Amino acid sequence: MTFDQPSSGLPAEPTSTDPIDRVIAYHIRTKHHLNRYARSLGFLDWANQPNPFRRFEGAPLIRLPLLNPDDEPRSPAYDAMYQPGAVASQPLTIRTISRFFELALGLSAWKRAGESEWALRNNPSSGNLHPTEGYVLVPPVEGLEPAPGLYHYAAKEHGLELRADFPPAQITQVLAPFPDGAFLFGLSSVHWREAWKYGERAFRYCNHDVGHALGSARLAAATLGWTMVLLDGADQNQVALVLGTHRQADFGEAEPEHPDCLAVIWPHESVKRDAHDLPLCLDQAVLKHLAAGPWHGRANPLSREHGVHWEAIDEAADASWKTSEEIQAIPLTMAPQIRSEAHHVSQATSDAATIIRQRRSAVSFDGRTSISAATFFQILHRVMPRVERPQLQRPIPWDVLPWDPAIHLLLFVHRVEDLTPGLYVLARDTKKLPLLQRAMHAELEWTPVPGSPDDLPLYWLLQGNAQRLAAQVSCHQGIAGDSAFSLGMLAEFEGRLRQGGSWWYPRLFWEAGLVGQVLYLEAEAAGVRGTGIGCFFDDPVHEVVGIKDLTLQSLYHFTIGGPVDDDRLLTLPAYYHLQRG
Ligand SMILES: Cc1cc2nc3c(=O)[nH]c(=O)nc-3n(C[C@H](O)[C@H](O)[C@H](O)COP(=O)(O)O)c2cc1C
Repeated sequence: MTFDQPSSGLPAEPTSTDPIDRVIAYHIRTKHHLNRYARSLGFLDWANQPNPFRRFEGAPLIRLPLLNPDDEPRSPAYDAMYQPGAVASQPLTIRTISRFFELALGLSAWKRAGESEWALRNNPSSGNLHPTEGYVLVPPVEGLEPAPGLYHYAAKEHGLELRADFPPAQITQVLAPFPDGAFLFGLSSVHWREAWKYGERAFRYCNHDVGHALGSARLAAATLGWTMVLLDGADQNQVALVLGTHRQADFGEAEPEHPDCLAVIWPHESVKRDAHDLPLCLDQAVLKHLAAGPWHGRANPLSREHGVHWEAIDEAADASWKTSEEIQAIPLTMAPQIRSEAHHVSQATSDAATIIRQRRSAVSFDGRTSISAATFFQILHRVMPRVERPQLQRPIPWDVLPWDPAIHLLLFVHRVEDLTPGLYVLARDTKKLPLLQRAMHAELEWTPVPGSPDDLPLYWLLQGNAQRLAAQVSCHQGIAGDSAFSLGMLAEFEGRLRQGGSWWYPRLFWEAGLVGQVLYLEAEAAGVRGTGIGCFFDDPVHEVVGIKDLTLQSLYHFTIGGPVDDDRLLTLPAYYHLQRG
């Protein structure tokens, strides 16, 4: 008689040292299965719940003016925010920086239940844990003193902490290749904040949150008439150098920050007709001088103890580290005003900033509310990046990602008037239609949807009530079935990684997060509500449409419908804690 070896239930450790194999191994290892979730503690260690607010103790804090919604700079209409060139450019001042950070990463409200009180932000985050930290590197700005340099955004104080003051001449050199009035924006992640709750799968969630934050920053910039593009040619050591995340002495015992990305932001009107190319990287020689500082502040520890250290996260972060710089550039052209066609205009009656501030995740849906087909098509239209256009003329926020889309939507339609319930696919890049079709069951219909706009590559796959199925594959969460529709974001997976490199792994999640951010706002604009869904059973989702290999992988889910509010919670204004005096 033989006995089976006891199994941990986990896939074998990766033996390959190829970074692409290593990120794929991480991905497979962190799948949720119907009978087994990805590894995590399995309970919440409340005593060590991480502080969602990072501070750099000893760094000078410059408070940003708390602006009322009606104060200048005022918000454009919601639809104008998405149209390249439609909003007049604001100058870079302490007031516009204040508005930018408020709408990008600022607080949206406080919630209170009994003794507990917690903040919500304009950018969402898995579990409201907010691993993402924001930075700017700015030239001299009136009112932002003592110095130009690198600042960290302190969300609770709505202030900027001076991490490093750099000589103005050096900053000018760094920003010289970019249009007048440009500054840099950067994001980093404290992986521990998500790992505390979600264990090994947390690297995925941190990168979703980066994508959401990129979206909220791009749209905040759009309300000020600013353009924003990811400096994706830069290698990750450069990102670390600019954001100071490599400075171990400043972090000491505090949780480290993982440098994610840098973007350049500029007033779109500063681009002249005879413009040149826009580089997507930074000058290495100039950066070295910049890193000399002087630097200020020490990071605050976020938890007293850290219990389990999730090595799989370090492994994924290491394997996906972008080690090479690409000297890429894109044509820097002034965007012609592209007017929205009638069927591309939302029903939003509020301005952009109101919609951004009111964004919330629905905690449950009523299982009744339907949306019209026109609203459904409008929402889908907004996530179309229009790949046929040059990068900077793509609809906002798709101009921020300097790559052709890798994410397509598998839709579970429950309650959309005049649409047959069932499964649909939105191909965000029609060139990829054969790839999508080959990766799925041969029997699926792929019928164009009657009544949908010609420029919406929406296909009907299968008829039927998918409410139970959607909830089941979303970790049994009712929100996926009780809504008007929910969806899985299918990423072109192994091909992108093998072709582009292991550093594409986080980028696929960034793009998914950005899609999620647009969906959140579109839901609000349509008078309904959305929720991001990070918890889903990976392969059972794939099986729904017969995906058998790693060509496509679902990375993130989303649901939109009529919300049911939790009226046990008290809501307090975003900055009431600063106004108490
Ligand atoms: C990447 C990501 C994954 C999420 N996953 C879930 C989920 O699986 N289930 C859920 O109910 N909410 C989920 N949420 C919603 C968050 O819990 C919510 O954003 C957070 O509590 C903050 O609340 P707010 O969005 O109202 O500001 C997710 C959000 C994000 C950004």
